[in-house]
Amino acid sequence: MAVTILAIESSCDDTSAAVIRDGYILSNIVASQDIHKSYGGVVPELASRAHQANIVPVVDQAVKKAGISLKEINAVAFTRGPGLLGSLLVGTSFAKGFALSLGIPLIEVNHLQAHVLVHFIQKENKGKTPDFPFLCLLVSGGHTRIICLKSHLEMEILGNTIDDAAGEAFDKCGKLMGLPYPAGPVIDQLAFQGNKKAYVFSKPKVKGLDFSFSGLKTSFLYFLRDRIKDDPDFIEKNKADLCASLQYTIVTILTAKLVKASVETGIKEIGIAGGVSANSGLRDAVISESERRKWNLFIPEFSFTTDNAAMIGITAYYKYLRKEFTGQDVTPLARI
Ligand code: KG4
Ligand code: ZN
Repeated sequence: MAVTILAIESSCDDTSAAVIRDGYILSNIVASQDIHKSYGGVVPELASRAHQANIVPVVDQAVKKAGISLKEINAVAFTRGPGLLGSLLVGTSFAKGFALSLGIPLIEVNHLQAHVLVHFIQKENKGKTPDFPFLCLLVSGGHTRIICLKSHLEMEILGNTIDDAAGEAFDKCGKLMGLPYPAGPVIDQLAFQGNKKAYVFSKPKVKGLDFSFSGLKTSFLYFLRDRIKDDPDFIEKNKADLCASLQYTIVTILTAKLVKASVETGIKEIGIAGGVSANSGLRDAVISESERRKWNLFIPEFSFTTDNAAMIGITAYYKYLRKEFTGQDVTPLARI
């Protein structure tokens, strides 16, 4: 019998619903919240309200686009965490009510595990999925980790950020340059016209496979402050070079640790995931490392880099096969 899952993602500022059948996506709808742009970052209270307004229409669209009837759904999955508590509560409560009304099981999903499992979504005409162990650099607005996946549902964290995430470094440095939130994609675009070696920013010396980005943000701030003293228009005149050099620094830090992880573990099944994995500089850097080091490299489609419910659905599919269901007393977790 086919396994059909309705998946809900509401951990931050995207409300998303997907229908996934036997690991294949039938629909994946994402409603992004533009309201945060003018605040320079996600405002938790506004995010929860927007999820509340979006969730029913987004689920309705996902079910319609999938062309299924509600009685074909075998389970409903939701992001339990990590994320913003108010945002998670909307998806969790919706999923509980949905499961109860249809009398179907509920499946909780860890958002970070889901970002990594995006590489296991089945597609017609798509090559094979990664073999295990699979090493994945997860880079998003909230997380920067090197994860070793030993099976679909068994993961070990080999490296983590000790302060800011890579996406935060893009966003906070972008804010210093007056760019809108989220600044990552804007920096990516501006970097194409700039010289990545125009400015050199210091790279942190962090032990093992861990990361640190708060020092880069501070040195970027001091660098801009000093240059603006001499020329108030410094940022405007040099924006493309600043973006290219900043991106190059972040990408170099990320790629060096991924290479180190591969060398230390001997694993050559390698992937990147999360919002920052959409970055052109990072994609180019891992592709060239993969050619040099004979990696079997997995880069997600752009639509699966930022938050989406398809990744929640694929993770839930593997949990469904193992009958890993959740009770109605489940509560969301901001941190896991
Ligand atoms: O995975 P995601 O959608 O949400 C979290 O779980 O955090 O990641 C969002 C992050 C933001 O920091 C955003 O600036 C960054 O991903 N991002 C990018 C790019 N696209 C999104 N950073 C650099 N280059 C991009 N093209
Ligand atoms: Zn995410």
